[in-house]
Amino acid sequence: MNTSKRTLSPTKVNLVLDCTLFMAYLIAMAPRFSGLPVHEWLGVAFAAAIVTHLLLHWDWIINTTKRIFNAALHQKQRVNYLLNLLLFIDVVLISLSGIMISRAALPALGLQVQAAFAWRGLHTLSANVALILLGTHIALHWQWIGNTFNRYVFAPIELRFKPMQPARPTTEANS
Ligand code: HEM
Repeated sequence: MNTSKRTLSPTKVNLVLDCTLFMAYLIAMAPRFSGLPVHEWLGVAFAAAIVTHLLLHWDWIINTTKRIFNAALHQKQRVNYLLNLLLFIDVVLISLSGIMISRAALPALGLQVQAAFAWRGLHTLSANVALILLGTHIALHWQWIGNTFNRYVFAPIELRFKPMQPARPTTEANS
């Protein structure tokens, strides 16, 4: 009896979530294209998805935090950690400043904040800084991205469209 269960691989979950985050960020960078209400709710969903992303990498966060001042830690890991920390702070700033200048999401919830000019400037600045940080983050993880896309996207597509190999004649048919 076949008792094997189809389980969702954590790598696949990470791939789907990371692609969704990337697409959401690109759309959020063009509020005039999406319209303000979509921009704001997408931004809120983005912040929630970032929390999920952090929870999925929680073990790495804890382990690397413990070893950050350890001389044995590889320099690349340290740079990666620092970059991720900056990216996290930046996402907090984007979300906080976005909420402070909200004209759709917050009023829809019956809330109103006194928008000050500085929040708008901070929102634009932190969103632009994220472009650099995210670009570097993707560059540092390029190998993982390439391998995972090959395994879960390109290889299954190739397998699906590969022409069927003609069946090899059996010895019985030959005789
Ligand atoms: C992924 C997260 C987000 C990114 C990347 C992002 C990015 C941007 C960018 C690039 C602009 C245009 C700035 C400019 O024209 O100078 C903008 C404007 C704006 N964003 Fe966000 N944002 C995000 C999240 C949010 C959230 C969560 C809110 C509120 C709940 C929000 C509210 C606004 C508002 C009200 C504007 C001003 C639009 C205008 O006056 O034309 N954003 N955002």
